[in-house]
Amino acid sequence: MASKPVLLDCDPGIDDTLALIYLAGLHSLGEIELHAVTTTAGNADVATTARNAAWVLNACGISTIPVVPGEPAPQKVPLVTTPETHGDSGLGYFNAPEHMLGDDYVDLWQRAVDTHGRDLHVIVTGPATNVSAFRSRDPQRFAELVNITVMGGAVNHRGNSTPTAEWNFWVDPHAAADIFDHAPCPITLCSLEVTDQMLVGPERLQDIVDKLGATAIAQYLPEILRFYFEFHQAKGEGYQAQIHDLLTCMIALGTIDFAATATTVAVETESPLLRGTSVADVRGHWGRQPNARLVTSAAIQAAHDEFDRACAALNR
Ligand code: BDR
Ligand code: CA
Repeated sequence: MASKPVLLDCDPGIDDTLALIYLAGLHSLGEIELHAVTTTAGNADVATTARNAAWVLNACGISTIPVVPGEPAPQKVPLVTTPETHGDSGLGYFNAPEHMLGDDYVDLWQRAVDTHGRDLHVIVTGPATNVSAFRSRDPQRFAELVNITVMGGAVNHRGNSTPTAEWNFWVDPHAAADIFDHAPCPITLCSLEVTDQMLVGPERLQDIVDKLGATAIAQYLPEILRFYFEFHQAKGEGYQAQIHDLLTCMIALGTIDFAATATTVAVETESPLLRGTSVADVRGHWGRQPNARLVTSAAIQAAHDEFDRACAALNR
């Protein structure tokens, strides 16, 4: 089976870290080719998220993947990061060391499109800032993207940043709105309705650490995840955490079963109260062409098993 080429755009971020571990595992198995990782400003500033992504891949034993920071700030609103959720470092109680990084993410995206064409899978687990910027910088290549999966939005579900908005869409609402308004293909959307179900607590974390075994990342995961567990506990959600971005990667690659419905998604940009709110026109009131495949359910136990498989692959 040919390996799927993947471009990950992320903002590690604690759940992004587990997404990176998963993709590193599939890359080491030869099931995907992780072409590159670019980062956004969101959970932390863009230099920090890039440094974190590079460190995570190295700690998974993979040092050959280019990691490049993208746009430093949202399109039209000031950058807000979330140290209370992911720690000042973006990795909970852990601080990643400095790392040499590339500097031209647009060039990297262009090369990914030229190399892989319509086979390329773009997975976005941070604000949509880079995707939207790529659209305005290179509309021709943007139009060639036919596999885009995005973690974002709280469709038919409570928000996690405001009553109605999810964090990634809230941070850069204009970028989120833009990619749905100009989607080159129906974008697979993994919103909180589904990703809130992907929970990891202390016992499950121990399983993961055991599966990773001698892989360097294993020894750091407890101090990274402990911060995330404490944050959720302080919010009254129990000593556990939602691992949104990991589930998103599995849905993007079709490695677990899920259900999705074709619909039209729009994101609010102007109203202060409703900033970043996502709406899916499931009854077709707008009469617009579908621009999304809205994921409505996913096989959560299968996702845990699938993550174990990838972790075990790194333990060599
Ligand atoms: C999303 O926001 C970030 O804090 C997480 O990394 C995830 O991508 C969940 O709302
Ligand atoms: Ca993220």
